[in-house]
Order: sequence, then structure tokens, then C-alpha cells
Amino acid sequence: MIIANTQLGEITVEDGVIVSIDSDKKGQKVALPGLVDLHTHLREPGREDAETVDSGSRAAALGGYTAVCAMANTSPVADTAGVVEQVWRLGREAGLVDVQPIGAVTVGLAGEQLAELGAMADSAARVRVFSDDGHCVSDPRLMRRALEYVKAFDGVIAQHAEEPRLTVDAQMNEGEVAARLGLTGWPAVAEEAIIARDVLLAGHVGARLHICHVSTAGSVELIRWAKSKGWRVTAEVTPHHLLLTEDRATQYDPVFKVNPPLRTEADVLALREGLADGTIDCVATDHAPHSVEDKECEWAYARPGMLGLETALAIVVQTMGPRWDRIAEWMSFAPARIAGLAGQGRPLEVGAPANIAIFDPEVRWTVDPTAQASRSRNTPYAGMELRGRIEATYLRGEPTVLNGKATR
Ligand code: DOR
Ligand code: ZN
Repeated sequence: MIIANTQLGEITVEDGVIVSIDSDKKGQKVALPGLVDLHTHLREPGREDAETVDSGSRAAALGGYTAVCAMANTSPVADTAGVVEQVWRLGREAGLVDVQPIGAVTVGLAGEQLAELGAMADSAARVRVFSDDGHCVSDPRLMRRALEYVKAFDGVIAQHAEEPRLTVDAQMNEGEVAARLGLTGWPAVAEEAIIARDVLLAGHVGARLHICHVSTAGSVELIRWAKSKGWRVTAEVTPHHLLLTEDRATQYDPVFKVNPPLRTEADVLALREGLADGTIDCVATDHAPHSVEDKECEWAYARPGMLGLETALAIVVQTMGPRWDRIAEWMSFAPARIAGLAGQGRPLEVGAPANIAIFDPEVRWTVDPTAQASRSRNTPYAGMELRGRIEATYLRGEPTVLNGKATR
């Protein structure tokens, strides 16, 4: 089956594998390896009104993804083999992307007692990434023990870096804008203090640490330093932190409330530079669906988080340029490597599994929150015109999206 004429040539797929790429027949469409998201909130079990494994998988496929890592802050929390296996099974049933559950680091995300990391690793879901995301593992002794534990099976702790004592009641980035709006600030140092501590711990233990949603210039510097030491540290940045700044808060529209918060222009530029020079390894969406009740209310009461899966690639192209080889690294190879996903994040070449995203870089479209596959509407890009859209996505040769529409 010929799937498309792309910048690489005409791609033909059989039995789930790429069988030829004819470089004499090049086209305008862009073929990328199926995208991999290291940081997706699918909300099931517990908040199926906001998202389900099925609806989130569809949003992912429409964004060009063939695999997503499902965050553990569900209800019940994904802190046992039973819950991670449930999420993994739901992902298989949806069948649109590979859903790889992330396990919680601590029981109930409470930060007091290590969860059953070994049992989750040994389960059918084969968990390798553990995170209390939404919460920081703030106790340094517990963080050290978690790093020691996962080192045994080459697991990784993905830290939501936020010193909680520095962000009590925080609503947005600490600075002039917050002062003017009368909102309590979330200082950059709350993120940077935890990153500094944890890269030192990772270096000391010799274990793998991943930093979620890096948002400040100082964090980029710390990670650059940690990598120069040879420590096993990786990091992600979200599309929204590559594009949006704290100024968006001035209308008090809670769609722009997110954790960590939108920062300054200087931070945005440092994040782009860090991604470009390899300090930041990858782009992860932090797709965080929230119900209308949780989002369309007063800023102080709104839950933090924004949708990301269906718009991520267009935002990355907009902010980083049409650098397809780098984008393949940031959005497919690197996240698959960090999460240890077999068969995902492989270069498009003959013999590779046909996990492919076909992107039309020219088409212009306007983001309509009601026209997305997600059950929630909290996209920060509503009404914005974006350039470039996923036309088709293939998971092991099976189309999950064709002509910009999900096949199921
Ligand atoms: O904005 C956020 N939303 N940041 C997080 O860390 C958690 C996430 C969520 O679960 O909604
Ligand atoms: Zn987080």
C-alpha cells in the first residue's frame, strides 16, 4: 500500500512495515516517525467526564502520535500493578496509539511512602517511568530512595519540579505581571531549587532522572550543567512554554492557568535555545484536559492545565521552524528512548515498523475547541490560526487518521 508522497519520497507499507521509500517520487507532504508523548493526562480512571483513554488516544492520533505515556494522577492513582494494567488494557482496546502507563512514585501521590515500583515494573504494563506529576516528590530522602530503586531495572523518575513550600497559593509566575494583577506568584526558584537538588541526587546515585515541563531560563542552565557532569539527566519542554508568556494572564482567562505557569519572554527564548542545543531532550505536551466546571470559573478556583495533543506539532513548527530532522528527534526518537518504548521512535527506513505521521505543512486552520477529539475544551489556542496539520497517522501500518479524520 502506497501511503504518501513526502519529502523523503513515496512511502510503501506492507504488513505493518515500511517496504520501500522511492526518493524519485518526492512530494510536499512531510513524513515524520510516529510522534511519542512522554507526558499525557488521560484522566481515566476517575475523571472520564474530562477525558478517557479512548478520547485521549483519538486526540493523540489526530496530533500525529503513535504512542503516549499516561500520567499517574488518576483516581484511583496509578500506584499499583492493578491500576497500571487497567490503563494499559484500555489503551489496547482503544487501539489508536500505544498507551504506556506511568506509575506513581509514592502511594496516592502523597509523597510519604514509595509505591510498589517493582510490582508495576513487573506487571503486564512493564512500567519504566515513574512520576508523581501534579505533585513534586519533595522529600529528598524519598527521592533518593526512588532513584536507587529504579536504577536496578533502568527505570527513570520523572520529577514535577516544584518546591511546595515556595508555591503555597501560587496562581501564576511571580513577577511584575502577578503583582499588577494581584495574584500570588509561583517563583522560578521553586522549580530551580528542586532541579538543582535532584540532579545532584541523580549524579550521586547514578540513576536516571527526567525533568518534566521545564519552564525557566535558570532550569535550562542547571540541566546544561548537570549534563556537562555526565549525569543521567533528561528534560522535556511543552509546546505552550515554547510559545506563550505570562502576559496571557492579564485577561484573567483561566485557560492560561497551568502548572508550572507561563513565564517571561526571556524564559521562552532560553527554552527554545535549550531545545535547539540539546540541553532539553524533547517536547512533551502535558495534555491536561479539564471539565468546563473546573476550568470556566474564577482564575483562583480553576484547575491548572491545558490541552496539547492536537496542536503540538504545529506549535513546535511555529516556534522552532520546519526542521524536520530535529522535530523527529524531539517528538519521537528522544521520548521513545527515554520511556524505553520498543518499536516506537524509529527512523523511517525500509524494514522499520510503519509508525508514521503525515503532516501537510501548508494547510492553515483555526483551532475550534468544540471540534477537537478531546472531551475537554481547554485549548489555549482557541481561535488562533495555525499552519500545518496532520493529514494521516499510521500505527504499525494501520491508518488511525486519514484525511485529517480519525478512522475510529
Ligand atoms: O498544569 C498542570 N496540569 N500541571 C500539572 O503538573 C498537572 C496537570 C494536571 O493533571 O492537570
Ligand atoms: Zn506537572
